[in-house]
Amino acid sequence: MKYLLLVLVVALAILLEYIFQIFPTEIENSEFKARYGPWCVVAGASEGLGEQLARQVASKGLNVVLVARTESKLLKVASSIRQDYLVEVQTVVGDLSKQDIVETVKKQVENLEIGSLIYNAAFGGNGLLETYTDETISQTINVNVNTLTYMLRDFVKKFKVQRRGGILIISSLAAVSGIPKFSQYAATKSYQTTLVKGVWEEVRSHNVDVVVTVPGAISTRRPSKYMTPQQTNRDFKPHLKLPLNLFGSWEAGRDPSWYRDQ
Ligand SMILES: NC(=O)c1ccc[n+]([C@@H]2O[C@H](COP(=O)([O-])OP(=O)(O)OC[C@H]3O[C@@H](n4cnc5c(N)ncnc54)[C@H](OP(=O)(O)O)[C@@H]3O)[C@@H](O)[C@H]2O)c1
Repeated sequence: MKYLLLVLVVALAILLEYIFQIFPTEIENSEFKARYGPWCVVAGASEGLGEQLARQVASKGLNVVLVARTESKLLKVASSIRQDYLVEVQTVVGDLSKQDIVETVKKQVENLEIGSLIYNAAFGGNGLLETYTDETISQTINVNVNTLTYMLRDFVKKFKVQRRGGILIISSLAAVSGIPKFSQYAATKSYQTTLVKGVWEEVRSHNVDVVVTVPGAISTRRPSKYMTPQQTNRDFKPHLKLPLNLFGSWEAGRDPSWYRDQ
């Protein structure tokens, strides 16, 4: 009888372990969706890191609103995400360096239940600061600072009212120190990182996560214009797991600025 009981307990333990091994991802995904869904806005989502981040949130069951300037690329990504993850996808063709983009996005999403925002797009000049045109300087400030701050403010307000939500800002390792020939870009990335650290503290007690990630060089279209393949030869997909894990994890709140090479 004793042995039978022992066998039953061991069998039950094995069964429970098996069940918990199977279900965590489902529980994780449904929690993720409940906390950050059903819709996520990805600003700068037609290629590169933004596209991959949109794919990752879609793989967790979130519908996505993709924002970028090039309609043809957006439509292609949208249809591929719909097909791969069976979620709904909307697109907003717009320029994040223009002042009216914040209103345009707001209008487009006013009837959607947005639970998260990923601000991914960035702009920056390349070369000595003394050679930058007024246009380069203001476009960098508009995309990396102004529009980002307006959107962050508006979504934080909204998420506080709904008492849930998440915002992920894609900053850069450039934020950590100045970079010659990318000086203004690096400075705006410091702004983003510092801004998030403060806002994270302001909203975390409201069940809203505002986090930033600071990746190093990754071979997407943008850096490949300035760097050799050796400098950007990392496969960017594994990297992207990190910010998204932070985003979806309660641990995210502990250290909102966290870079780990993989
Ligand atoms: N790649 C790296 O090595 C690296 C390293 C550290 C940090 N980061 C950061 O990661 C983020 C993404 O970088 P990435 O390399 O993936 O860039 P990317 O390949 O140039 O892609 C940027 C995305 O944003 C969109 N975008 C750019 N400017 C926009 C604007 N003014 N308005 C609307 N959409 C715009 C682009 O689409 P359209 O051109 O169609 O608008 C594209 O979908 C940036 O914040 C960057 O600073 C990248």
